[in-house]
Amino acid sequence: MAVMTTTIKRPETLSVQDLLADPDLTHDDLTLLFDLAERVKARPGKYAHALRGKQLAMIFEKPSLRTRTTFEVGVTSMGGFAVYLEHAKPRLGEREAVKDIARNLERWVHGIVARTFAHESVLELATNASIPVINALTDLYHPCQALADYFTLREKFGVLKGMKLAFVGDGNNVCHSLMILGAKLGASVRVATPPGYEPKPEVLEAARTIAGETGGGVETSHDPMLAVAGAHAVYTDVWTSMGQEYTAHLRNQVFAPYRVTKDLMAAADSGALFMHCLPAHRGQEVTDEVIDSPQSVVYDQAENRLHAQKALMILLMQDARA
Ligand code: CP
Ligand code: NVA
Repeated sequence: MAVMTTTIKRPETLSVQDLLADPDLTHDDLTLLFDLAERVKARPGKYAHALRGKQLAMIFEKPSLRTRTTFEVGVTSMGGFAVYLEHAKPRLGEREAVKDIARNLERWVHGIVARTFAHESVLELATNASIPVINALTDLYHPCQALADYFTLREKFGVLKGMKLAFVGDGNNVCHSLMILGAKLGASVRVATPPGYEPKPEVLEAARTIAGETGGGVETSHDPMLAVAGAHAVYTDVWTSMGQEYTAHLRNQVFAPYRVTKDLMAAADSGALFMHCLPAHRGQEVTDEVIDSPQSVVYDQAENRLHAQKALMILLMQDARA
């Protein structure tokens, strides 16, 4: 008897036209991005003209080392060009309406990278621009970071389904993106925050719903030891995110028991990796001993921002027209 086999062809394009928030990405999107990032990393010369003639506008309301550099170097290394928009007013929309910024930029460039305080600002840019908009960090999500982080974990462990990631610290934008993407990938994400600094309930609920469909898991507690027990990777971020500086004094006291130390790492799996999106405040959320240890992969994560975002720009911008 002949056996019928069905081949499901993986899509060659992303299901989205922008990268705004982690929940928007499908599992196929993630596989496509990671596979392309792997090829771009292995043979960068092959993609030297992938974005020939494409221009990128970069709007940053907040400071950046990694994101700005990797997008600018990334697009330039593929034959394109980036223009960094200095603006005297700190918030988008103060000099002119966000929709007018979008409607101007779409006439000149092929993509917009935006780092804003309000998540709504990147959504409004995308609603009003026919070109791709990439979220370069908002108060709610940091999707480019989580893409590079799970790409790094895939390189290190091969398989993401079933892996255990512990996030210790503030339930912030980076934590939100790691929870959602981890759930999509079938990982188990355990978050430990001080009381009052938990991830947003709506993001937690979304992550748990996704995890229910993929076999992953998302748990929160106030106990760092519980979160890291048996973890394959331990992740932390600054206690005070950009824009919250006026709360730093209080946070430095509240978060002190959540510092990632050698003792905390010892409670994780014996081969556990230490991760941080950077910038790190050494001596606060992580000790020098941990961030400088052989377990630390923080500079691999930073390097992979470049490769993951090159893959993202190829998939979003290759056919974009200004
Ligand atoms: N991790 C990260 O986004 O770094 P920057 O703030 O320097 O861009
Ligand atoms: N949570 C940090 C991440 C910096 C990359 C912030 O928003 O400042």
